[in-house]
Amino acid sequence: MEPDDLVSDRVQELIDDMIETMRAASGAGLAATQVGEGLRIAVLEVRANGRYPYKPALPLTVAVNPVVTVASDSPTFMINEGCLSVPLRGDVRRHMDVTVSHLDRNGDPVTLHVRGLTAGTWQHEVDHLDGVLFIDRVEDPHTLTTWEEFENHHRRAFLTRLEEAGWYTSDPGGAATDTVPRRSYDAS
Ligand code: NI
Repeated sequence: MEPDDLVSDRVQELIDDMIETMRAASGAGLAATQVGEGLRIAVLEVRANGRYPYKPALPLTVAVNPVVTVASDSPTFMINEGCLSVPLRGDVRRHMDVTVSHLDRNGDPVTLHVRGLTAGTWQHEVDHLDGVLFIDRVEDPHTLTTWEEFENHHRRAFLTRLEEAGWYTSDPGGAATDTVPRRSYDAS
């Protein structure tokens, strides 16, 4: 994605359409590849999300040419994921401590240190841009479920696992904050 193309009306309208589509579908993110565009653009946002009520807030972000770099000592965690392109959920191993570099919609460079579930969201979206779906990364097919099965039989265990690992809190006072540990979505 060249900066000159980025500022074109066509691409700026595409970005607006992607944000609208993500919000209408209650997604946590959407990649251009999901709407039939081969551009390296993703949008991300989590704000009182109905599909992922346990995900920490993530301010609206337009990521052009995003690159995820994994910290050398990053822990991994089996995150149960869903995707607007696949009507299933399943467990995917993700790095929990990453640095993301990208351009914003104006072409200005941004670098973020991201941890926890938000780090998983970023890896999921960059995977889309590389043509990889989360189901390609599911190691144990037994973890693949419908959303209804997840809600009824797996959600509680997943959130318990997350909380025990320190990536989530069921404390209502903490649930509205960023990823646990705190200050996990720092712009730096
Ligand atoms: Ni997806």
